[in-house]
Amino acid sequence: MQYVTLNNGVEMPLLGFGVYQIPADDTERAAADALAAGYRLLDTAAAYGNEEAVGRAIKSSGIPREDLFVTTKLWVQDAPAQDNTKRAFETSLQKLGLDHLDLYLMHQPYGDVYGQWRAMEALNREGRAKAIGVANFYPDRLIDLMVNNEIVPAVNQIETHPFFQRADYQDLMREHGVQIQSWGGFAEGRNDLFTNPLLAGIGKECGKSVAQVVLRWLTQRGVIAIPKSVRSERMAENFDVFDFELTDEQMARIAILDTGASLFFDHRDPEMVTWLSKRRLDA
Ligand SMILES: NC(=O)c1ccc[n+]([C@@H]2O[C@H](COP(=O)([O-])OP(=O)(O)OC[C@H]3O[C@@H](n4cnc5c(N)ncnc54)[C@H](OP(=O)(O)O)[C@@H]3O)[C@@H](O)[C@H]2O)c1
Repeated sequence: MQYVTLNNGVEMPLLGFGVYQIPADDTERAAADALAAGYRLLDTAAAYGNEEAVGRAIKSSGIPREDLFVTTKLWVQDAPAQDNTKRAFETSLQKLGLDHLDLYLMHQPYGDVYGQWRAMEALNREGRAKAIGVANFYPDRLIDLMVNNEIVPAVNQIETHPFFQRADYQDLMREHGVQIQSWGGFAEGRNDLFTNPLLAGIGKECGKSVAQVVLRWLTQRGVIAIPKSVRSERMAENFDVFDFELTDEQMARIAILDTGASLFFDHRDPEMVTWLSKRRLDA
């Protein structure tokens, strides 16, 4: 496994496993299969409703805690968010059966963002969250958070795939020491990603699948990837991406696929901001 060093010295695997949209009943098996396939970075969220199942898979794996890198995410909190955030963090840890997190992300740039971040800064200083970061922050929100607080987010987890490549944003984040992490690296299969002729052609040249080309392309750019699959053969396929390299010419061909726009929704869209901001988790 290749690792990246975050801005506070924490080492994070460049490739991990995401459990979004895996029903809670299936998540323990999926996460256990992923660990058996070699994944050591697991990415969940309070909003996914499957932290307990991830926790059970971790426990039964017998893998030493220090070999794992576990991420979960804080859902949107009302102001004043400091106590709520601490409570939400403890609930997540309890569900996961852990005493610390490797990475705690603010899931959305909404709610009492400053209160949430200051509570996360405190958790980081206490060593409960080895690294803290954000998700779905566009440049304006990221810079605002950085300029007006003390700890620079270690990671920003954003939609990043061949049709929305975020190269300029990656440069800006690099300048500020923020590590880019991709969500939806396969665009969840949208735009017929898995049968895209350009990606399939490159796959043929490399003797690799489209999925492997995409993951290699991401990780070769220094983007942390967390593909999701419920099928163990795909987990193995998605993990097997470090034995080949894309040429500069192949990377340049993939760059042409960028549309510069989300395939899901824009986190600055007023309707989505309203909808996501109003959502509250049950517990
Ligand atoms: N921060 C955020 O707001 C946010 C948002 C979305 C996602 N995420 C994180 O990012 C992770 C990844 O994103 P995602 O789950 O949205 O989607 P994704 O990884 O882009 O795509 C998952 C889809 O690809 C299929 N797939 C996986 N491997 C394949 C392969 N080798 N060949 C063909 N199909 C394959 C899966 O089907 P099967 O399962 O049937 O194999 C599933 O339908 C999530 O699990 C989550 O941890 C974060």
